[in-house]
Amino acid sequence: MELKNKYVLITGASGGIGKAIAQELSKQGAKLILVARHEERLKEVIDSLPNPSEHQYLCADLTTREGLTLLRNKARDHLQQNKKISVVINGAGTNQFRFLAQRDADSLQHEINLNLTTPILITQSALAWLDRPGIILNIGSTFGSIGYPGYTSYCAAKAGLHRFSEALDREMDGAGIRVLYLAPRATNTELNSDLVTQMNKTLGNHCDKPQVVAKHVIKMLKKETPAKWIGWPEKLFARINQLLPNLVTSSIRKQQETIHKFVKQAEE
Ligand SMILES: NC(=O)c1ccc[n+]([C@@H]2O[C@H](COP(=O)([O-])OP(=O)(O)OC[C@H]3O[C@@H](n4cnc5c(N)ncnc54)[C@H](OP(=O)(O)O)[C@@H]3O)[C@@H](O)[C@H]2O)c1
Repeated sequence: MELKNKYVLITGASGGIGKAIAQELSKQGAKLILVARHEERLKEVIDSLPNPSEHQYLCADLTTREGLTLLRNKARDHLQQNKKISVVINGAGTNQFRFLAQRDADSLQHEINLNLTTPILITQSALAWLDRPGIILNIGSTFGSIGYPGYTSYCAAKAGLHRFSEALDREMDGAGIRVLYLAPRATNTELNSDLVTQMNKTLGNHCDKPQVVAKHVIKMLKKETPAKWIGWPEKLFARINQLLPNLVTSSIRKQQETIHKFVKQAEE
């Protein structure tokens, strides 16, 4: 899709990856609607863009019914004003690095809500107001393809988001809406605590700058690539995990001591 003058709605737009996506999209001439909970941070993102007056923001907690209604009303306003939104990027996400036994039920539900239920509900709503041709791009994770200790419910949510994106893209075949899925690997943002960043370094896991993810987003939107995994070893591991999961289990087993050490520190 050509992005110039297209209206693009981004959730999680004040986060590390969301802000980088907003900056890349604004360079492409897109007009943005940035969504997150905290106004100050959204304003900062808008002020960092080349033409701030062309972009808007919406404060909404997307795990609530009220937040989803605000988003739907905003999109309907656009529809009525003949300024239909052409692209939705579901980027809002969260995770907690802990073993399942140490998690409380509320935090598990919140994680599943924001990473899986929320993008499903926004996507369903978008079927009624998105321009055609239109694109929905869901931001997943390498952990959606590889079950990893300390991230069980996050892995579950992102795996669900991957299947959802694939299923709906097939369901909408020929109907003018594409549903794409991008799986970044570890990325340098506030999502990862200092401890997690330290663990990634110890394990030799590569950590991308958010701009790397944003550039992949632009390429995917332009080419309408159905799904993409960032990073070579991660891409390969995701494939091996499908075909020969025991190989991946053996490899993760070698990391267990380090993972346990860092999870313990996270719990202190
Ligand atoms: N960073 C990584 O290592 C990594 C790797 C793979 C995939 N990802 C995925 O990439 C996406 C972006 O992550 P990030 O690293 O940029 O995270 P981040 O820096 O923590 O940003 C999270 C964003 O989501 C918003 N948000 C959080 N809770 C919300 C809620 N209830 N309603 C509406 N917005 C909410 C936050 O703004 P407010 O707090 O103001 O609401 C913020 O804009 C996520 O889906 C994440 O799972 C990240």
